[in-house]
Amino acid sequence: MPRAGTAARPAVTTGKGANIAPSRLEVAGTDARFSTGLAELDRVLGGGVVPGSVSLIGGDPGIGKSTLLLQVAASAAPGRPMLYATGEESLGQVSMRARRLGLESASLSVLAETDLEVILEAAQAAKAALLIVDSIQTAQFAGLGASAGAVTQLKECTAQLVRFAKSTGIAVVIIGHVTKEGAIAGPRVLEHLVDAVLYFESEAGSRFRIVRAVKNRFGAANELAFFVMGEEGLKEVRNPSAIFLARAAEPAPGSIVMVARDSGRPLLIELQALVDRMRFGAPRRVAQGLDANRLAMLLAILSRHAGVSLQEHDVFANVVGGLALAETATDLPLVLALASSLRDRPLPQALVAFGEVGLTGEVRPVAFGEERLREAAKQGFKVAVVPQGNVPRKAIEGLMVRGVSRVAEAIAAAEAS
Ligand code: TYD
Ligand code: MG
Repeated sequence: MPRAGTAARPAVTTGKGANIAPSRLEVAGTDARFSTGLAELDRVLGGGVVPGSVSLIGGDPGIGKSTLLLQVAASAAPGRPMLYATGEESLGQVSMRARRLGLESASLSVLAETDLEVILEAAQAAKAALLIVDSIQTAQFAGLGASAGAVTQLKECTAQLVRFAKSTGIAVVIIGHVTKEGAIAGPRVLEHLVDAVLYFESEAGSRFRIVRAVKNRFGAANELAFFVMGEEGLKEVRNPSAIFLARAAEPAPGSIVMVARDSGRPLLIELQALVDRMRFGAPRRVAQGLDANRLAMLLAILSRHAGVSLQEHDVFANVVGGLALAETATDLPLVLALASSLRDRPLPQALVAFGEVGLTGEVRPVAFGEERLREAAKQGFKVAVVPQGNVPRKAIEGLMVRGVSRVAEAIAAAEAS
């Protein structure tokens, strides 16, 4: 039997490659990004729009997608032509909105059109730097029998837009509504086709809007941008670290503020825990904005290493403001909130915490400790209970930092604060 690799391979003779020379890869000076006109959005995109890139921006109907992208179309890369193609609204409606937003639209062209080929031709004729398609659900490629919004149309139109962007260098932003059955027929089926995927989120009833990058070929994923929806459209929130922090006047058991940082910068966020005597046969463990498995693990650690047993209790944990946190720095504050709720003893309102907790009951340091502490001090917090390894060498003015290395020690330190 011949050994692998020893068999003679036949020469490839299709002839297809004969006249094709691969391009030399230009590495220096290829990043010709341009600004969207909104610094927050630029940051989420990794520093602006990459020519020839395709971004998908999804969100619930009415959240502000058209508003945001019309603002971008009017303020991005001044002097360079932009094309905003809408299949959702008439020209009259778009111009009313633009007037309301007070937009200067010298280089902005609007096209009310659903036929994708017409849109592409117009973008090419206009030599647009950026083409905005509002929305992918209304776009239609005539060559397909399916009606607009059908999955085959969504995919084909997106694939055409990608091909168009790559061959012309025109950047494309695709708007997509997240439908109720979003997972199947919404923008999610398009995520793998495009370079960047942004989601527009908001807490019900809130004026704040968050744009989250869930995928980005040209930047970091999980970056967040914050906006507030006002009379004149969306305004950036430049210093969002405390926008979720609207706390009750009186300290309440089970509530604690943590400094999160899984969005690319420090954010002060309130975590809440509620433990209550079990009502039914099996204890409930409910986590909103937190990982439920992580919560179960922390409950076991509390029981084994801090003498806090919640086996007979229903446990609820929540991130206030509707954010979802995926970093381990939520462990320590969550443990403190659970103990506080169980003992019905409030923690001081000037207290913040962050840190990871391990299975042996040890408290482990997390990244960006000093940055988190500085932000807490800036927002007026006085005491921080943090992993020993995150205690800064130089004191931070106005903030007493208590380093802890065990869970039980952390609970005692928080209660004594
Ligand atoms: P829109 O951009 O049309 O949402 P989408 O394209 O995601 O469906 O946003 C519509 C909502 O925004 C609507 O409820 C009105 C509100 N809005 C303002 O509050 N201020 C404004 O300046 C504008 C233009 C809209
Ligand atoms: Mg819209």
